[in-house]
Amino acid sequence: MSNLIKVDNVSKVFGEGMFSRSQTVAVKDVTLEIPEKNPKIIAIAGESGSGKTTMARLILGMVTATRGSVEFQGKDISKMNKAEKLTFRKSVQAVFQDPFEVYNPFYKVDHIMIRPIKNFDLTRDKDEAQTMIEESLEMVGLRPGETLGRFPHQLSGGQRQRLMVARAMLLKPQVMVADEPVSMVDASLRATILETIQQLNKDLGVGVLYITHDLTTAYQICDDIYVMNKGEVVESGDVEKVIKNPTHPYTKLLMDSIPQPNPEIRWKEEGPEYDKFLSDLAEFSVEEDSEFSQTSTLESVMILISVLLGTLAIILLLMISVADGKSDASAGFNEGGGGDLTDMDGFSG
Ligand SMILES: Nc1ncnc2c1ncn2[C@@H]1O[C@H](COP(=O)(O)OP(=O)(O)O)[C@@H](O)[C@H]1O
Ligand SMILES: [Mg+2]
Repeated sequence: MSNLIKVDNVSKVFGEGMFSRSQTVAVKDVTLEIPEKNPKIIAIAGESGSGKTTMARLILGMVTATRGSVEFQGKDISKMNKAEKLTFRKSVQAVFQDPFEVYNPFYKVDHIMIRPIKNFDLTRDKDEAQTMIEESLEMVGLRPGETLGRFPHQLSGGQRQRLMVARAMLLKPQVMVADEPVSMVDASLRATILETIQQLNKDLGVGVLYITHDLTTAYQICDDIYVMNKGEVVESGDVEKVIKNPTHPYTKLLMDSIPQPNPEIRWKEEGPEYDKFLSDLAEFSVEEDSEFSQTSTLESVMILISVLLGTLAIILLLMISVADGKSDASAGFNEGGGGDLTDMDGFSG
């Protein structure tokens, strides 16, 4: 069976030079495969500093391995010629954590979509480029009309993150390396982005390396999981098995840090207490809660009174000014109006 990606016994040591005083073993003896046939969604999970991003960068060829090798379609990525490198860089795409950093605030977001088309010479036809961009935007649930022509700050965090996925999809990659793609977006958008990633895998056969510190989302979308601790893979395999029956103490520790409605209830074990929690939640409504209803009645009465007082004040002012206008009428229309304006100028000057 051939692999799209094969990480073979890879280690990465930072600061391993003649003049370095301290060394960091960011990744240690990691072996991992993404098969060519029916590519999966594979999670790399672990807490901050466990070596996940370094793994992503190794696979993308952004850093070179200290020991071991990374292969793309059976070819060592550090030994590729120019043409092979180009194919590799097109076929393996990255989606990173903080999409705002990727954008140049002075360019419209279109720029980020046009660049890969130019870099990889996908087309030189303007209309064709536009169609390609619109298609990949729609693929991730973005409306071209609401996205193109805008500046990065005019989009929401979720839109920016999806734009990153759209940019990666433009190149029709075989592998997508997504490093904490949802850690900067809120819960409602998280689901949409994760669904998009799942669709890319199921519908288009894109192999996904999903990097996260969060076991909940890993469990939600992945087939296999690799749990990393201090640069080493401590446990790996089918996500269902690993999460439900963790054998390594570190995996158990990570799972204990997942917030649960009740600490007595463990992962996915929904007992009577959990059922009660859910039914309490369903029964709770704002209208029935006496504190809420009292506050809102009081508030609406106060608003009504202030609106009435405001209206009265305006009517009084109007009556006074009409009376004034009548007494000034003999002085002439133009002069009266001019006087007001002069007053205002004097005030500002
Ligand atoms: N370019 C670098 N130079 C030196 N040390 C680094 C570099 N990149 C990462 N590290 C170190 O490697 C370890 C793993 O980091 P990282 O791969 O970013 O972990 P994670 O993504 O899981 O938080 C950390 O101790 C980090 O400080
Ligand atoms: Mg990281």
